Amino acid sequence: MPWCRGKINQWDTKSQQMALLLLCHTHGMTKARGHAQIEPFWPGASVTACRSIQISQTFRTLASLLFLPPKDNLSNEMAPHLQNFFAYVDSHQEEFIDRLRKAVEIPSVSGDAAYRNEVFRMGEFMATELKKLGASVQKRDVGTQVLNGQTIQLPPIILSTYGTDPTKKTVLVYGHYDVQPALKEDGWNTEPFKLVEDAQHRLNGRGSTDDKGPILGWLNVIEAHQYLGVDLPVNLKMCFEGMEESGSEGLDELIIAEAKGYFADVDVVCISDNYWLGTKKPCLTYGLRGINYFLLEVKGPSRDLHSGVFGGTVHEPMTDLTLLLSKLVTPNGEILIPGISDDVAVVTASESSTYNTLDFEIGELEEAVGSKTLIHDTAKEALMHRWRYPSLSLHGIEGAFYAPGEKTVVPAKVIGKFSIRSVPDMDPERITELVTHYVKAEFAKLGSKNTISIRCTHGAKPWVATPNHWNYVAAAKAVKYVFNVDPDYTREGGSIPVTLTFQDALGKNVLLLPMGRGDDGAHSINEKLDRSNYIEGIKLLGAYLHEIAAVQT
Ligand code: BES
Ligand code: MN
Ligand code: MN
Repeated sequence: MPWCRGKINQWDTKSQQMALLLLCHTHGMTKARGHAQIEPFWPGASVTACRSIQISQTFRTLASLLFLPPKDNLSNEMAPHLQNFFAYVDSHQEEFIDRLRKAVEIPSVSGDAAYRNEVFRMGEFMATELKKLGASVQKRDVGTQVLNGQTIQLPPIILSTYGTDPTKKTVLVYGHYDVQPALKEDGWNTEPFKLVEDAQHRLNGRGSTDDKGPILGWLNVIEAHQYLGVDLPVNLKMCFEGMEESGSEGLDELIIAEAKGYFADVDVVCISDNYWLGTKKPCLTYGLRGINYFLLEVKGPSRDLHSGVFGGTVHEPMTDLTLLLSKLVTPNGEILIPGISDDVAVVTASESSTYNTLDFEIGELEEAVGSKTLIHDTAKEALMHRWRYPSLSLHGIEGAFYAPGEKTVVPAKVIGKFSIRSVPDMDPERITELVTHYVKAEFAKLGSKNTISIRCTHGAKPWVATPNHWNYVAAAKAVKYVFNVDPDYTREGGSIPVTLTFQDALGKNVLLLPMGRGDDGAHSINEKLDRSNYIEGIKLLGAYLHEIAAVQT
């Protein structure tokens, strides 16, 4: 076994090599990050050198003789490839950012029929980029939907394969190429569909973090390996959809139908579509809340009325609706629908203790919210209410007068919008039943002659995995390798509908491996992805694939 690899070869004597190995070892391989710690001893030694050391058996023996426990937290066999890959990523940042720029410039908003062409254009962009990289690409048509009263075509689900070596593991990665709506007038500092880098090196633009940066990350990994002439250590299967922000229409059916077909040889699944807990420390995520989205329509008069002429003479839909909405949740976030919390799994003592070690302060949440209006006092309570208890949010009222100025209108038909974030072991169908029953009963108490209708427009089930699978072990090694810290293990309050489907239909472990930070502002104004998160994130996704190939299963 050679003593060492890469740059360190330039040290010619065994004793010099030994001294550097010991130096790295005493730095726990973890502190040997900057040049500062090393240069005083070995001018010219660099992080690269330290990282590319292979700890030989001889060193292990010597180290144990010196009563130093050998630290073998780097996967040294892959070090040279990864070092070259990292260097390539660092020196090709602008190209990767250009790829993201082109993607952000396509306003692929899935929730608005007027933008459907753009979603298709974005699907085409993904397919073209993948083909240019030599991946095989299928665009799966999953039919139509009715949106804003129009029947329109659903965007294609892109299934792409890169590598079919039966001796390698196969990793399925998923992401979405659609985005939330965005208008400059919403309060953006820059044009939302232009990628603008600011003075803090943040790449601002809709979709930068959710989810165009992460999905292009996989393409960048392929490209870098190609240029370096290094084979990807795994086969990659990719599944990119254009309807995630609008309930992933058609995707579950496709996955179930292809579980024993296209997806048959998948070993593990990785989704990069969430965020670090804070702004500094990477994490691996093993849980998501589900969601049931409701539309509650109240209608009465056949047209909008003048409140001077008709006020006091008709049952007003807005009055009924606001009363109903007020009966759903208290200002402290307590859901008022009877039975809704009955199925919430009990928090065990060991689960509770996992919240004690997370690197998170309540102030970070205030920072992210931009105010001091939190319901809870401690980070633990706040995180539990975000991750593992249900919540109910009121989103808006369609048909209500909301423009500036005063208008003495009685809206004839209004639609209240709210959603419930669910957790294990809540069931979406049971939630809909309970909500429908309660809203109808509360409406009956009002004695109004208006009519209501309530429906759940889309839903996703909650998901939790046990993070001790080798998929997570590999990802933790990759985090350690790239960022030199052990990741936090987190859950998320948001939803990715397909996660549980992959787990159940394929029977494989699913890992969420985020690229962006907790303050990226997905869905909000000024959504951004820090340049460093994009670049280090590309390294992370690549390192993860190498660790997957190397990990013991
Ligand atoms: N990337 C998010 C999921 C997410 C949100 C992860 C927050 C972590 C924190 C995803 O694109 C998303 O927005 N999902 C929707 C799903 C819904 C429309 C079914 C959500 O959570 O609202
Ligand atoms: Mn997303
Ligand atoms: Mn989203």
